[in-house]
Amino acid sequence: MDQTDWDALRTAATAVAERAHAPYSRYRVGAAALADDGRLLVGCNVENAAYGVTLCAECGVVSQLHASGGGRLTHFVCVNGAGEVIMPCGRCRQLLFEHGGSDLMLWTVSGIKPMSEVLPDAFGPDDLEGTN
Ligand code: THU
Repeated sequence: MDQTDWDALRTAATAVAERAHAPYSRYRVGAAALADDGRLLVGCNVENAAYGVTLCAECGVVSQLHASGGGRLTHFVCVNGAGEVIMPCGRCRQLLFEHGGSDLMLWTVSGIKPMSEVLPDAFGPDDLEGTN
């Protein structure tokens, strides 16, 4: 994927950030990803009066991945309300790893990197092989 495509992904993330439901933090997040068949997936954060129930923008992306036919994530970016690239939180790195694996490419605050660098030595589905 070239920089033009990454820019389009970031534009999609910035657009969906405007739809965030973030009345408590007032921190809007938009996320966008590509699936392995080229589908564009987006999500925004959805906060809750019970703060811990908040859904990060990444949750929306993963839900849309499965709701629209499944597959694997191949490329991902998330941004704040100003359209600046931000890092997925720790929990969401784990979430993204489950659905994209080590080769998922992410646009991070320090450039485009594989998940193997964003979440090194990740615990994942392979660790459960043969345990049940
Ligand atoms: N947030 C996300 O949506 N994704 C992240 O990876 C970082 C944090 C949201 C959760 C909360 O609604 C707001 O940003 C402030 O933490």
